[in-house]
Amino acid sequence: MTNFDFNNMPLVKGNRARTFAILSCGITFTMLVFSYTFSDPSLDFFKYASRLSDSFFSKGLCACQQCIAELEGDPWFAEHFNQSIHPLMTRENSILSEETFRWWQWLQSETQPANFSEVVEELFQVIPDEVLYMDASPDRCRTCSVVGNSGNLKGSRYGHLIDSSDFIIRMNQGPTRGFEEDVGTKTTHHLMYPESAINLDNTTSLILVPFKTLDLQWIISALTTGTIKHTYLPVMSKIKANRDKVLIYNPTFLKYVYESWLEGHGRYPSTGFLGLMLAVHLCDEVSVFGFGADQYGNWHHYWEKNHMAGAHRHTGVHNGDYEYNVTLLLQDKHKIQMFKGR
Ligand SMILES: *[C@@H]1O[C@H](CO)[C@@H](O)[C@H](O)[C@H]1NC(C)=O
Ligand SMILES: *[C@@H]1O[C@H](CO)[C@@H](O)[C@H](O)[C@H]1NC(C)=O
Ligand SMILES: *[C@@H]1O[C@H](CO)[C@@H](O)[C@H](O)[C@H]1NC(C)=O
Ligand SMILES: *[C@@H]1O[C@H](CO)[C@@H](O)[C@H](O)[C@H]1NC(C)=O
Repeated sequence: MTNFDFNNMPLVKGNRARTFAILSCGITFTMLVFSYTFSDPSLDFFKYASRLSDSFFSKGLCACQQCIAELEGDPWFAEHFNQSIHPLMTRENSILSEETFRWWQWLQSETQPANFSEVVEELFQVIPDEVLYMDASPDRCRTCSVVGNSGNLKGSRYGHLIDSSDFIIRMNQGPTRGFEEDVGTKTTHHLMYPESAINLDNTTSLILVPFKTLDLQWIISALTTGTIKHTYLPVMSKIKANRDKVLIYNPTFLKYVYESWLEGHGRYPSTGFLGLMLAVHLCDEVSVFGFGADQYGNWHHYWEKNHMAGAHRHTGVHNGDYEYNVTLLLQDKHKIQMFKGR
């Protein structure tokens, strides 16, 4: 990693950036993508995350032509969107309200959980408490690709488009190797829970989505001693991931997504929807790939041969139809851009 930091490039400063972005979006975009390869994207992502939660509605931060967080003109979006709840967990915001804790513990009905605050304390001795990286940065335009695992990516040739974003968010078992042309090669952030975990390369930030206290214990274990081998299923005892980049999805944010965006549909949100909501709250522009059914109406994964796989969306844990409706609404309101395959 070098010290070159695109945030400090003269072109992306203040109002000039806004004007410049409008006039020649394409050039700016290319330069951002080019310089991006010389910075450490996941660190920047978090700095931004920290700042967003500080400045209500983040006025003066986004230098895109159109920014997600702009609330004017869309009452539906403004009604659901709340930027004061931080999507990621820090030591500071880790104290859950009694109500949130009870709801969260109920998700996977954990019996005899360990002491949550003690586990969190141990966790932040293993992974960094990134709030330390908070700093002031000039305006910028952050583009994100959220890549779901739908079979509609097959033959889509979206790889280059996906890779051209500043941040690329993937989830669960979604592989890139062998599917580069359709899904791209880069991953800056990868969401997973213990039962859906895969190994990552050193440049990717693992975002653990915890559904129980044991999940927090698992990530500690998987990054160190490897003693936890089983939750309600056998899990990877060790994981290959850069410890300095591990982030934790905030249970309070999870509950907010469930209540505010899904209005209580399903038991809890799917990882795909949680990834989308993370992007909607942290990025300035969001492109969405690999969500929904393929052209034949099947909900399998892009790496699976079996078109019937993924039919579990009707088991009632997640409400895939409702989630998809909300996703389509976000697109109708020009908050995200969806790519549905071809
Ligand atoms: C956003 O969430 C915070 C924290 O839960 C809450 O206090 C606030 O009222 C919410 N704001 C809106 C506009 O709903
Ligand atoms: C959890 O541990 C903390 C610190 O050791 C302690 O103060 C708290 O009472 C414990 N909570 C429970 C529910 O046992
Ligand atoms: C991964 O990155 C860290 C620094 O973030 C470095 O210390 C470590 O040696 C790297 N590991 C590999 C295998 O490249
Ligand atoms: C999704 O939207 C369609 C069309 O508006 C509607 O018919 C359907 O009931 C909605 N599904 C859910 C689960 O809300």
